[in-house]
Amino acid sequence: MAAVPNEPQRGAAGPSGPAAAVAAESLARAVKGKTIVVGVTGGIAAYKTATVVSRLAQAGAKVTVAMTDAAVKFITPLTFQALSARPVYTSQWEHIESQDPQHISLASAADLAVVAPCTMDCLAKLATGRTDDVVSLILSAIDREKTPVLLAPSMNTVMWAQPSTQRNLATLRADGFGFIGPDEGWQACRAVGAGRMSEPEAIVAEIARVLSARG
Ligand SMILES: Cc1cc2nc3c(=O)[nH]c(=O)nc-3n(C[C@H](O)[C@H](O)[C@H](O)COP(=O)(O)O)c2cc1C
Repeated sequence: MAAVPNEPQRGAAGPSGPAAAVAAESLARAVKGKTIVVGVTGGIAAYKTATVVSRLAQAGAKVTVAMTDAAVKFITPLTFQALSARPVYTSQWEHIESQDPQHISLASAADLAVVAPCTMDCLAKLATGRTDDVVSLILSAIDREKTPVLLAPSMNTVMWAQPSTQRNLATLRADGFGFIGPDEGWQACRAVGAGRMSEPEAIVAEIARVLSARG
């Protein structure tokens, strides 16, 4: 059947229309009023995280973005500041605005944290307990028994297949980190394979699912 011009298509997965409205309502139920820390590390997929932050903020979540030095090479803090309407943390040495060090107060306030994209380097840091950037430092102060931490890996297919990456994944799973993806498909390095970051909608859906499951 031919589409009716200018009429939203029922069941369409686009940004508007009835299906999107329903999805937005159920997302809002899951995330409204929740404090979500979004860590961004230095992968080419960092631009997709703008959509994640936008969707969460539109649904009423309090989104705090933290970025590594490498992440800032791919997308500006200003983009995330505008989308989240909150300060963006790009260094562990700034925003010392309370008695607690910044990473402790951000970690304690979080209902959930997600790192997207999560680089090979970030996986290695988290697996070995290194904390020398603002993202890994905030995560180091989160008790995962109380606050879920989700990682959305994103890297070239050879980087993903490295024994070191696979060892780190096994360690991180055993340590209680949750994972979103990665997917298989086209990569910015013009290869096709595993390691592509999950799409923003899948990341948002998993955040909503995890938060809903915790009530
Ligand atoms: C153009 C370019 C694209 C990159 N894309 C990725 C990527 O998608 N995934 C990844 O793990 N590393 C990627 N890297 C390498 C990381 O940026 C590098 O390992 C960096 O040190 C990561 O730092 P971070 O984990 O502190 O953010 C890329 C590097 C360059 C120059």
